[in-house]
Amino acid sequence: MMTGFDDALRATCAKLAEPGKGILAADESTGTIGKRFQSIGVENVEANRRFWRETLFTAKEVEKYISGVILFEETLYAKSEDGTETLTEILRKKDIVPGIKVDKGATIPVGKDGDGETDTDGMDGLGERCAAFYKAGARFAKWRAVLKIDVEKALPSADAVEANAKSLAKYAKICQENGLVPIVEPEIVPDGKHDVEVSKTVTKNVLTKVFEHLNKENVNLELMVLKPNMVTPGSGNEESEKDDLKVAEYTNEVLLACVPEAVPAILFLSGGQSEDAASRRLNLMHKMQKESDKTFPWTLSYSYGRALQASALKAWSGDNSNAGKAQEAFIEKAKSCSLASLGEL
Ligand code: 13P
Repeated sequence: MMTGFDDALRATCAKLAEPGKGILAADESTGTIGKRFQSIGVENVEANRRFWRETLFTAKEVEKYISGVILFEETLYAKSEDGTETLTEILRKKDIVPGIKVDKGATIPVGKDGDGETDTDGMDGLGERCAAFYKAGARFAKWRAVLKIDVEKALPSADAVEANAKSLAKYAKICQENGLVPIVEPEIVPDGKHDVEVSKTVTKNVLTKVFEHLNKENVNLELMVLKPNMVTPGSGNEESEKDDLKVAEYTNEVLLACVPEAVPAILFLSGGQSEDAASRRLNLMHKMQKESDKTFPWTLSYSYGRALQASALKAWSGDNSNAGKAQEAFIEKAKSCSLASLGEL
């Protein structure tokens, strides 16, 4: 498939796949950022959300470690503190690519009543919205599908996997037609006590379905980014923070089996792992691959939300005179992630 946007899409992908860099996911919906703010006792009002995001985007040398930032719609149009420019312009001046969350949350019920499985909302008017976001300066987009593991109930169900893979493919196609590189994010959330073997089987199954549907929709795999979960034990499993070797080994195995070489970059979500675990494990994946004398066919790096912001949020704690300390904490984490993405941590 060729669109009039192929050159723009290619240029965006080249930036997002730059070695040693990753994406900052700062696209928490108003509800989700509210939860993060609650943990540090900060009121969830527009002024605080803008202040927090501007603090991150203006951190010294952020552009050394961050290639792109995913924004929530409110932030795409928000003005800086002094009112002279938009936050989007601040990013563009630093050669950081602005992106936009275009989904409207995992709210459409799928499968049996009561199992809580969902498909993601946001398909209505998506083409027009993408075109408007492109005009406002966004060059990539994100759509998050949510799948849950429940071994007793045999979840995720085949229906949920199929529905979410279809939506991701349809969204990706619409983005490419409108000049936005689609970040395809099938997140298998870590809730549950399942072990890492279960996570491996489910992740493999989900990614296989996702690529089946991307191919059916004729999505150009060279002009997209995959944002998967790492293959981890459930967060309620006692091995959850421990077994780095298995996490790295299984994640490499699944990605090498499922993700075509045409895809330029795989950028992980952190999914509630600690900041340390998220960078340690990424580092280990690279070390293992190097030890086997092979190279990954794609860039393997990060698109973290919590694993880039947790320490910085604590350092800020809603006191704006702490902004400098928060920026230092953020850059320290970004630097670790950058080294990890090269296997040099
Ligand atoms: P976390 O890294 O906090 O999981 O967030 C990444 C993200 O964008 C989830 O959609």
